[in-house]
Amino acid sequence: MPTVILEHPRGRQVVEVDTPSALVDLCDEHALAVPMSCRAATCGTCCVNVIEGEELLEKPGERERDLLERLGAAGGRRFACAVHIKQGIGLVQLQISAFGPLSPPSRG
Ligand code: FES
Repeated sequence: MPTVILEHPRGRQVVEVDTPSALVDLCDEHALAVPMSCRAATCGTCCVNVIEGEELLEKPGERERDLLERLGAAGGRRFACAVHIKQGIGLVQLQISAFGPLSPPSRG
């Protein structure tokens, strides 16, 4: 089972994950301090830095890849509303990113 550690300005939170999980669900169930807005990988509010354990995260889907590219947020950053944690053993260490929140992308 992965252990997820979230570092944020007020401290850190630790959650044990017993099945493959959407990070957004863990945030809801355990009141993790990740700011959320759209919850659909479109606004960038939930940006986190992946400090450790990237191998325990599913690769970004098309929508998240597109947002990472549009916002220039590649390089160890992910959007918590779009991250899925794999089954496995290890540590996933995340940090609220100073990169977000960001303005919603323009339409059209
Ligand atoms: S909450 Fe908007 S990108 Fe995650």
